[in-house]
Amino acid sequence: VQLQKLNTFGLPSVAESYLPLTDVSQLRGDAFKSTPALVLGSGSNLLLRDSVPGLTVHVLLGGVEELGPGGADAGAKKVGKGDVLLRVGGGVDWNQLVRYTLDRGLSGMENLVLIPGTVGASPVQNIGAYGAEVANVIAAVHVWEYGHGARTLSPEACDFGYRDSRFKREPGRFLITGVDFRLRKEADSVNTTYGAINTELARLQVEKPTPADVALAVTNIRRSKLPDWFFLGNSGSFFKNPVVELSVLEKIRETHPGAPSYAIDPAHVKLPAGWLIDRSGLKGAREGPVGTYAKQALVMVNHGGATGADILAFSERVQRAVREKFGVGLEREVRLVPEE
Ligand code: EPU
Repeated sequence: VQLQKLNTFGLPSVAESYLPLTDVSQLRGDAFKSTPALVLGSGSNLLLRDSVPGLTVHVLLGGVEELGPGGADAGAKKVGKGDVLLRVGGGVDWNQLVRYTLDRGLSGMENLVLIPGTVGASPVQNIGAYGAEVANVIAAVHVWEYGHGARTLSPEACDFGYRDSRFKREPGRFLITGVDFRLRKEADSVNTTYGAINTELARLQVEKPTPADVALAVTNIRRSKLPDWFFLGNSGSFFKNPVVELSVLEKIRETHPGAPSYAIDPAHVKLPAGWLIDRSGLKGAREGPVGTYAKQALVMVNHGGATGADILAFSERVQRAVREKFGVGLEREVRLVPEE
């Protein structure tokens, strides 16, 4: 099966075998005697090579259900006053879910509006943006553990970190079939810790922001700097923001006094990879069909006709340039399939 329309980079890639997963019972079948090569949601964090040997499972599990307090469900026991618990199928589109919650006046997901991808993919790299991450609203993750069966993992068992989780650290162990989210009915506790949100809310002349206001602010910010994959193939941030020792930042500030950083702990800071690439002279750079986005250097784009190998080669050039200029290594954030 051709995967070109099933990944947001628009890379031509052929899956040796392809199975649409529309019902959890399919997981008991023979196809799952061995672990699939690729579990596909909407392909928004993937760098696909020309062929994917083995089985590609396309997770199309739907459903959004509100779990009432006192329900027979184990998860429902934890519903506090003012909370709403939603059980959502792994194949549901993330942004459609965010819209659904906003339409019902629920808060908790507004900062994560417009992130491409599916619900089932959201815990894997603990999607995050504009001061929030999905781990903040996850009540439970429903998985299929290959060779065992259905299980439910608590948020603690998922061991979430920055763009990281147990699902990433133990690849090939679980397939995420659904997620329970805990949201709030009260709309008075929005998160505007991320500076750009406040700037945008001020520009919109909003004083007491609701979740919908925050979502609008984030939407405007994202549209101003992130390309729409429908028009320009991309996978969002291509690298993670590197966490380095304070001394590395001090060294960079000798030549670049205004270098931005985010505090992690007294000895470490996170450096914005987009800034490092930008100051290495590669913002908007292009090599054949591949380049960095003109408004956000951390985003690699497919100008049309690129293959996974083209993007990989260009990304390695970016890594070399940043290493030479700043002595900092960049780690890929997108998943290369198959891996080296
Ligand atoms: N910057 C530049 N030049 C650039 C790009 C960025 O100088 O070309 C500077 C900016 O001016 C700013 C800093 O770098 O001072 C950070 O940029 P930005 O606010 O755009 O955020 P980011 O660190 O590049 C991260 C996430 C994004 C998320 C935004 C907002 C990672 C790897 N990326 O990007 O997530 O939307 O913060 O919270 O953590 C994604 O994961 O796909 C993604 C888009």
